[in-house]
Parts: sequence; structure tokens; C-alpha cells
Amino acid sequence: MKLNYPKKVYLNGAWIHPEEAKISVFDRGFLFGDGIYEVIPFYKGKLFLLTEHLDRLRYSLKEVELKCGITNFEALISKSIEEAELEKEDGAIYIQITRGMAPRTHHFPENYQATVLMYAYKAKLDNFQYKFIDTLVSTDLRWHRCDIKSVSLMANILANTEAKKEGFAENIMIRDGCFTEGSHSSLFFVKNETVYTHPNGPFILPGITRNLLIKLCKANNIEVVERALPVSELDMATEVFITGTTTQITAIKNLHFPDKILNFGEEIGKITKKLQGLFIDEVEKQIGVKI
Ligand SMILES: Cc1ncc(COP(=O)(O)O)c(C=O)c1O
Repeated sequence: MKLNYPKKVYLNGAWIHPEEAKISVFDRGFLFGDGIYEVIPFYKGKLFLLTEHLDRLRYSLKEVELKCGITNFEALISKSIEEAELEKEDGAIYIQITRGMAPRTHHFPENYQATVLMYAYKAKLDNFQYKFIDTLVSTDLRWHRCDIKSVSLMANILANTEAKKEGFAENIMIRDGCFTEGSHSSLFFVKNETVYTHPNGPFILPGITRNLLIKLCKANNIEVVERALPVSELDMATEVFITGTTTQITAIKNLHFPDKILNFGEEIGKITKKLQGLFIDEVEKQIGVKI
């Protein structure tokens, strides 16, 4: 899908054209990456897992002690779909909140007005169940608070650029000998019909899609274990997949290590397929429309 700027953006109280949207060079988001963000999907104009995404947004704000004064996120989010004229389309809402403009100091300024940016954009959310992708295995160079959806994403950007250079859309990362997650997705393995994923905590983002998937496993008698998978146990895995708001559930065909390629079959695995079906049913049940 061709990447475009959105038609309109919400910036600090006003809906404006992107070319009119300006922030200060002293905005702490620009100077330090001192801000957080959230991405919320919508299918055919209908928001999916809004409450869960807003809970995570509030968690990120709380963890970095960032006050933004917005009490009506729901109304702004709905308005952003209207402003972008995407009421019948698939897409996502991007929300970014920074600690605003202040003379440059590392510590928080005493007084600040948060910068709030929000917009809806079109995204391709259909047919994810047919993708069977290759990914690059990379070292996880991120900080120790990956549970915060911080806009400081340098380690993710470096990793993903490396993947892109080699022709892959995503990489999966290793910290201290164990798989953590993708540069912008959560990671799952299947071994003996059991699904494994890294536990929530400081080393992964608590993926909203990840959390839904765990619920779907539990409700459908698929055993799920939240444990970091050591690289040494990878040989026993028969299926690998990643999840995310716009990744949904994407199956992985080959893992590219610096010295070897590990293949996970010529067809998408049975458990991955089952979970993709359950995910589609869940979206359709919640939004009341076929996707
Ligand atoms: C590092 C990371 N992990 C996991 C995810 C998936 O999270 P979600 O399912 O909430 O989109 C993302 C999404 O952007 C991410 O950036």
C-alpha cells in the first residue's frame, strides 16, 4: 500500500491540514523522544479493542508521568475517522503525546503543555492469513522498559532497517539468549501443539493483539505458556508467527540467522491457521461486520 500523509490531523485542539501542523523545535518529543504513542485499528470504520488500547495509552502516560489533560479520547478518535473520511475503510488511528515545549533540560520541566497529535490513516487489514513471510533474527538492543510505548524507537528502527535492507518486513529479536519479540510485533512459537510467548514485563510491549490471542487460546483449549523461549529450544518449534495491530497474525516461513536459515514448512501451520480463523471470528463478532 502506498504511504500517504493523512487528510487532516488533530494537533493541540484543532483539526488542520498536515502542512499547517507545526510544532516547536523545543518540543521535548523532537529534542529527546520524550513522548508516548498508541495505534488503534478500525475495520470498515469500526474501532477494534478500543478500551484495551486506551488502557495501554493511559498506562504509558502514567509510567512516564506525562499529563495531557485530554479526557475525551473516545470522541476525538471517532472524529479522526470522520475527518479522514474513512468511515467505510480499514485503517488505524495514530496518537502521539509528548511533554511539550520547554527550554532543553534532561529532567522534566516544571510546567508544560503536552503536545497531542492524532490522525486516522488507511491500512490494509485484509488477507493477512495468506501471508507467509521471512524474518531476520537480530540482537535486541532496546532499553529495559519496552512495556512503555515510547516514541524513542531508535533500537527498533535500526533493527528493522537492517531487515528491510535484506528484503524482509520484520525481524525477531534475541535478548540474553531468549527470543523477545519483533521490532513492531509480538512473537509466538508453537511446539507440540502448545503456544509459547514471552511473558509481559519490561522486555516486551504488552501487545493488545498478543493479549487477545492468549485469551482465544485459553477459550479454545489450546495450551499457552508465557515463557521466554531460549534460542537453544528453537529446533523443537514447528510454527512461528507474529502478531500486531496491523500485522494481525502473520505466519513466518523462514528465520534468517547470520549463519543459517531455519524453515517452518511450505504451508502455514495448523495452530497458526486455527488462531487466524478465531481472530477473524472475534473481530467480526465485536464489530458486527464481515471483514
Ligand atoms: C515492539 C512491539 N511489540 C509488539 C507490538 C504489537 O502490539 P499490538 O498488538 O498492540 O499492536 C508492537 C506494535 O506496534 C510493537 O511495536
